[in-house]
Amino acid sequence: MGKELRSRVETIRVRTASAHYPVWVGAGLLRQAGQRLRRLRPGCRRLFIVSSPRVWALWGRELARSVRAAGFRPEILLMNDREQRKRLSTVEQLAEELLRRGADRTALVAALGGGVVGDVAGFLAASYMRGIAYVQLPTTLVGQIDSAIGGKTGVNLRSGKNLLGAFHPPLAVLADPRTLGSLPAREYRSGLYEVVKCAVIGAPGLFRFLEQELPAVLAGEERCVRRLLRDCIRLKAGIVSRDERERGLRQVLNFGHTFGHAWETLGGYRRLRHGEAVGWGMMAATRLAQRLGRIPPAAAERIIALVESLGRLPALPPVRVERLYRQLFADKKKNEQGIKFVLPRRIGRVEIVGSIPKSAVLATLREFTGTRPSR
Ligand SMILES: NC(=O)c1ccc[n+]([C@@H]2O[C@H](COP(=O)([O-])OP(=O)(O)OC[C@H]3O[C@@H](n4cnc5c(N)ncnc54)[C@H](O)[C@@H]3O)[C@@H](O)[C@H]2O)c1
Ligand SMILES: [Zn+2]
Repeated sequence: MGKELRSRVETIRVRTASAHYPVWVGAGLLRQAGQRLRRLRPGCRRLFIVSSPRVWALWGRELARSVRAAGFRPEILLMNDREQRKRLSTVEQLAEELLRRGADRTALVAALGGGVVGDVAGFLAASYMRGIAYVQLPTTLVGQIDSAIGGKTGVNLRSGKNLLGAFHPPLAVLADPRTLGSLPAREYRSGLYEVVKCAVIGAPGLFRFLEQELPAVLAGEERCVRRLLRDCIRLKAGIVSRDERERGLRQVLNFGHTFGHAWETLGGYRRLRHGEAVGWGMMAATRLAQRLGRIPPAAAERIIALVESLGRLPALPPVRVERLYRQLFADKKKNEQGIKFVLPRRIGRVEIVGSIPKSAVLATLREFTGTRPSR
């Protein structure tokens, strides 16, 4: 990652029927967290910070110092943030811990970490005593552009990802790009697949930027990171503001995720990082759109080329296409008639398509299964 990002703080607002909240983005925000949370919650003292041991070791001290200076009494709840631990049992343990420490409904929860910490802490806040307030302090690229925004919280079931959850908007999101500086290269790159997703669904200028500036983007240069965060957060904030509950429009954010989740789940969450699964999933959705004649071939090739140019993806789990096909329906209670795919139409526009013949889906899956790493 590049050296410290010195941009000033930008505010992007999410405005839904149920809540209005700011997404603050800027280098050094972690140090300002105390003052900003204080303004949101003038009388509050008890702040329960949910984090992972690793993230806490890297960034916890800075956050703790800032909130203490603003008069909060921070208490730290650490959780294992592996995807396999994004389960109800983790939420239950944290809830018992909150109760043991005497947290009541006035307590504030802060999630400091990646998407796993954010989803678990958000669901904890959504359900503890029927709902308490929380803020998101995402420390991964996926967290900052995606998972911390929009109020979706939840955990996985054995049979599929994110099947148990709640909509619970945060009071605010504080994204400090400096925290990305300690991300392992693979995690940063995994987030870049979600950036490509944003570009394909609604940011053609960002798509061109990625094509043209790829080496600098991969190196995490400050101006690039700033551009990615700004474009992606604006896009996501705009979409969830119009469709918080995923009645329609918000589904576009699932581009690459229908196939991606199936591969991620069948790989036992070990083989592929979430973003990597989405990388594979975007390529499959693009090939499916092409097979159905719904995207010009040149646009399809650009999408595939950009995904591939981010680097070598780990191999897909070795599962038969019929098994994979069944897994597509395990993902969020869909039946065969009801499954909808988000397919690219051109760069910057996707469409939601139902009633796709099983044969076309299977043929697309066959193109990918048994595939070696992309490069
Ligand atoms: N709620 C939503 O709308 C939404 C959207 C997208 C993704 N998600 C979820 O988010 C999860 C993926 O999140 P993720 O990609 O952030 O991964 P993650 O939470 O698994 O974090 C990845 C790894 O990076 C480490 N880490 C985090 N921040 C770090 C830092 N600053 N420096 C060094 N290491 C750091 C973590 O400890 C972890 O090992 C998935 O469970 C996915 O389902 C949710
Ligand atoms: Zn995702």
